[in-house]
Amino acid sequence: MAIPILIDTDMGVDDAVAVTLAFYSDGVEVVGLVSVEGNVSLDQATANIGRLLAGLQRTPWPAIGRGLAQPGQGPRAHHVHGPDGLGGIALPTPADFKTQDYLTVYRQAIEQYGSSLVILAIGPLTNLSTLLKQDPKLLAKVGRIVVMGGAVWYKGNVTPHAEFNFHRDPAAAAAVLSSGLPITVVPLDVTRQVAIDESHVAHLRRGRTPGGALLADMIHFPLEQKIDEHVGKFMIHDATALGVILWPKLFMRAAVALEVATSGPKAGQCKPLVGKTGKPTTSVVISVQAADLLENLLEHLCREEFVV
Ligand code: RIB
Ligand code: CA
Repeated sequence: MAIPILIDTDMGVDDAVAVTLAFYSDGVEVVGLVSVEGNVSLDQATANIGRLLAGLQRTPWPAIGRGLAQPGQGPRAHHVHGPDGLGGIALPTPADFKTQDYLTVYRQAIEQYGSSLVILAIGPLTNLSTLLKQDPKLLAKVGRIVVMGGAVWYKGNVTPHAEFNFHRDPAAAAAVLSSGLPITVVPLDVTRQVAIDESHVAHLRRGRTPGGALLADMIHFPLEQKIDEHVGKFMIHDATALGVILWPKLFMRAAVALEVATSGPKAGQCKPLVGKTGKPTTSVVISVQAADLLENLLEHLCREEFVV
């Protein structure tokens, strides 16, 4: 039985890898895609959802929601994902691309799937924190929320203290992680260990699926950039977070309460909340079998066995 998932995304290249992998995996069914500002502007993130689905030649499309921008004007991530957020590749602009308000998409998915629904949040948590404020009982019906974000015991990728998604909207991250909801955080500590290089791109091209070919073209841009001291390696943070849902046995998790700094030079920093009584409702992924995850990812995207 496929797990229904709603993906909340700021639609950069690693988001596109995650969404494509979700479509190529029988273990999940994408029932909603909601945009949020982050890697790129809200308009661009929303348009990129349509461009990716058109490029994947996917039909029928899941419900698509236009989410929120962040109040601040902090750095986006064009230096990683390219001017358009998807590596600058040519993608069709869908003719009749319609979006709904994100609240409608969330409400419909939660009313229809309830506790079997998993929300995968792979951008800043602006939509989720606003939903918490506007309809606190709604998210309580969801089975689980998996969040790519934070750098708990490792240095950040935007400041030495903070990872991009939490840095972009620290107040939202703090609100969501202290909400008492069943949240699994997949931090940079772990996602930085899963990186694609040219050898994996060659596999994607050989696989000859529309998704593999499209991602191979898209990943070319980040592979050329110097990201976190690496050239020729592209960390697929968001696809790793999806892997926690698809292949949980490849990960270890620890039940840990977390707090997020919401202001000052350490804004977005995510650390264990010590001294809180009771069993935490949040868990943190602390390890990943990276080689196995990459092998699974390539086999699903290329639809062929590699290790025989
Ligand atoms: O820090 C990595 C995260 O920030 C990823 O989700 C990437 O897409 C950006 O949103
Ligand atoms: Ca993202």
